[in-house]
Amino acid sequence: MKAMVPEATSRFPLLKTKLGPLELETPLIAASGTFGYGSEFENLTDLDCFGAVTLKAVSIEPRTGNPYPRIVETPSGMLNCIGLENPGIDVFLNEILPESIKLGVPLIANLVGDRIEDYVSLARVLDEQDSLVALEINGSCPNVDHGFMSFAADPVILGELVSGVRAATSKPVISKLSPNVTDIIPLARSAVNAGSDILNLGNTFLGMSISTDTWKSRLSRDYAGLSGRAIRPLALRIVHQVASSVDIPIIGTGGIYETADAVEFLIAGATGLGAGTVNFIQPNRVREICDGINDYLAERNLAIQDLIGAYRGPAEGEM
Ligand SMILES: Cc1cc2nc3c(=O)[nH]c(=O)nc-3n(C[C@H](O)[C@H](O)[C@H](O)COP(=O)(O)O)c2cc1C
Repeated sequence: MKAMVPEATSRFPLLKTKLGPLELETPLIAASGTFGYGSEFENLTDLDCFGAVTLKAVSIEPRTGNPYPRIVETPSGMLNCIGLENPGIDVFLNEILPESIKLGVPLIANLVGDRIEDYVSLARVLDEQDSLVALEINGSCPNVDHGFMSFAADPVILGELVSGVRAATSKPVISKLSPNVTDIIPLARSAVNAGSDILNLGNTFLGMSISTDTWKSRLSRDYAGLSGRAIRPLALRIVHQVASSVDIPIIGTGGIYETADAVEFLIAGATGLGAGTVNFIQPNRVREICDGINDYLAERNLAIQDLIGAYRGPAEGEM
């Protein structure tokens, strides 16, 4: 059955999206770490194409991140090992957030810590910030030391992390999962059972790049996070797998560069669409994607809900 097509009351009338408890103007969400604190992109694109902007990760103490080089381009994406550089929660609250608020776009904070208590403390403080529409738990960055990966790889620890944050805030909680696991389903279920409202699938894939001159890594670490076009089919498969196993909304993130990419993620079961590396390549591309999805829906007389999870299965002898 077709969903109702909403009335044309906004710039992208067909793109209004209910992402769990969040009502967004469009499903496109700037992915954390690829859009700074929003202000950096203010003069480069129209921010009203973003349903929300996820701010760069924030931790309790400032982090300097990893040494340079921290970014290398790949044939269809990029490897990064930034290492969650950020000025810490005090500067975030006093200097950064006030500027981001002026952008007038819904903001999501991205929380990072070494221990569960760090995330819980951050969630308590950020819960008081009316400007934040949701808190995203980054339990999945591949580019740091200290057993951080255990949040991403162990369903029990992930469950404890999400429960802790859930108890510390009344805001919607987004759990951003790592794709660097053998089976993501137990992790997704654990995040849901612990009270997550939304899943973000997901973060970068671990990769590597070696200089053939020096025989060393091209980066300051052995491994780094691969993002961009190269990971789209992988992220799409994960979204489809998880959407079939949980009943909370999913933000599909990984290599969205074109309208068709976005539509694919919706059909696979995503409700929200994370846009990351594309912002570095063409800062106004998300606007084009919004126009493109709008046209795709209008031409077919569809509402966006008609696409979500509408995947019809394997091709059958079609050429
Ligand atoms: C330079 C860079 C920095 C990132 N920093 C963060 C971060 O601070 N927190 C986070 O949860 N994800 C971070 N990510 C991951 C992105 O939010 C996103 O999940 C990933 O890049 C996949 O999406 P994409 O292919 O559209 O870029 C970062 C990615 C890049 C490329």
